Formats: sequence, structure tokens, C-alpha cells
Amino acid sequence: RVVVVLAGGLSHERDVSLRSGRRVADALRTAGIEVSVHDVDADLIAALTEAGPDLVWPLLHGASGEDGSVRDVLELLGLPYLGTGPRSSRVAWSKPIAKTVAARAGLSTPDFVTLPQSLFRELGAGRVLAALLRRFALPLVVKPSHGGSALGVTLVQDPADLPRAMVDAFAYGDTALIEQAVVGRELAVSVITDAAGPRALPAVEIVTDGPYDYDARYNPGRTEYFAPARLTASEAAAVAEVAVTAHRALGLRHISRTDLILDGDGVPQFLEVNVAPGMTETSLLPQAAVAGGHDLPTLYRDLVEVALA
Ligand code: DAL
Ligand code: MG
Repeated sequence: RVVVVLAGGLSHERDVSLRSGRRVADALRTAGIEVSVHDVDADLIAALTEAGPDLVWPLLHGASGEDGSVRDVLELLGLPYLGTGPRSSRVAWSKPIAKTVAARAGLSTPDFVTLPQSLFRELGAGRVLAALLRRFALPLVVKPSHGGSALGVTLVQDPADLPRAMVDAFAYGDTALIEQAVVGRELAVSVITDAAGPRALPAVEIVTDGPYDYDARYNPGRTEYFAPARLTASEAAAVAEVAVTAHRALGLRHISRTDLILDGDGVPQFLEVNVAPGMTETSLLPQAAVAGGHDLPTLYRDLVEVALA
């Protein structure tokens, strides 16, 4: 079997994707699978046609990888690939749309609004921000409505920090998502698929001194992870259920990771879902897999088999 791993691309998460791609390619080789890693550039169609892979594994994070567009190319070429299709990727990539779908599937998600940057020009930034502060109690979280690796995300505790937070979010796209901050435990629940269907891996709990930002995510030692998370059996079952419900409701395939907060009342609050979860040495899905007793080369090989089935 020949698997082509797509990694890199031109998104803000290019470096993370290269790291994810390397790790997965190494693990697949360990499992005896022939792998080549391709960066994504204008030669993508020629490269894929020439490689003639049995399967493509898109490990592209951020735009083009997670927004569905590279998956559109795979559909166009009729190449089998591991992971979610382009339409559902597009839905998942939009945090406000994913939250809406999750809420309709019965999940709790923090109250939010979206604001396009054009409103600030048309109505005046001061008025829009004042309305926002009337609508929400602080703290709130400001993020790009499409994005990853916490880039452009700010926890706003002080109204004076709000304008800057909006500017940071707009650096990554023209719509910002403003969400009520929830106090609780930060958890990530990965879903993998075997012959029996999608199932949750043990939750991973994230404990940081400051924000769980890009630095805290990718510099070993900056963040403390509990894998499995310190949960009661019923809490663990509840968060697993949330991740599988989100996976199904959003039409995801093979692999995903749901990020959530277990709030003070023990209610899981859905934040977002990732169709290309990070697979680096500090990423959450590989830690969850190990906590679940999986050997990574075997797990990734099994995922390849499921995707080919
Ligand atoms: N966006 C990064 C890669 C993650 O979700 O792990
Ligand atoms: Mg994400």
C-alpha cells in the first residue's frame, strides 16, 4: 500500500502541519506502510496523479486543509482519502456554524455572537464594542470565527482589552466570534473509527499557567496534560458522548477532536471540533491514543485500513 500524507500548505499552521505529517509518516512506516509526504503547492494535482496513492491522508491544519478545499481536489481526482469530506469540513471549520449544529444536536455550547469587521466601519467601532459589553458579562473570549492553534484568540477580562482582541481576531479573517467565557476544566476528546464505528478515546485535560496559546501548545513542558483526564466515570462518559455526538451530527469521518469545557455544574460545553487534529509530539490525539492503550503505528495503520474499506 502507498499512502500520501499531505502536510504543510500555506496556512498559519503550516509548521504545525509539517510536524504532524512527519510524526504520522514515521509511525506509518514503522507499521510497514510505504509513505510519501507531499507539501501542498500549485503542483498538487500533478504530484498526486504521479504518486498514484492507494490513500491520501490530509494532515493540513488551518485553511485549505480544514476548510474543505484540498478535500475538494481529492474528490475531483477521485482519490480515496482518510478523514472528513469537503462539505462537512467546511461546516466544522466555521466555529459559529459548528456550534449551531452542535446545539441543535442537543449539546450545550457557550452563548456567542459573530461580528463581521465591516460592521465596525459601518456602525463605528465604539458603538459596536459598547453593545457587546452590554450583551455579555466579562470575561469573554474573542476568536477568529475560522482558525486553529489558538491563533488570534484572546480571553478578555478587562473592557479596555476588547479593541485589541478584536483586531487580533480580524488578523485571521473578516469575522470574529465572541463567546461567553466558561470557567471549568479544559478537555479535548478525540474520536477514531474502527469496524464498529466512531468511538471516543480517553479525554485529555489541559492545565496551563496562562492561556493555552500557540506557545503553550507546541513547546514541550509549557502545558501539563492529564491523559486520561481526572474525571469521574460519569463525567468521562458524558464528555465521550459529546464528542461522538458532535462527530456524528457534523458528518465527520474517521477521525476528529472535540474541544470542550466541563463547567462548574459538570455540564460539557462544546467549543469546537477539528477535522485535522494536531498529531505533533505535544498534540492531544496522540496522547489520548496512548492513554487508551493504543500503539500509534498500529492505530494509524488501522485507520488507514478503515479508510480503505
Ligand atoms: N489546530 C491544531 C492543529 C489542533 O487542533 O490540534
Ligand atoms: Mg481547532
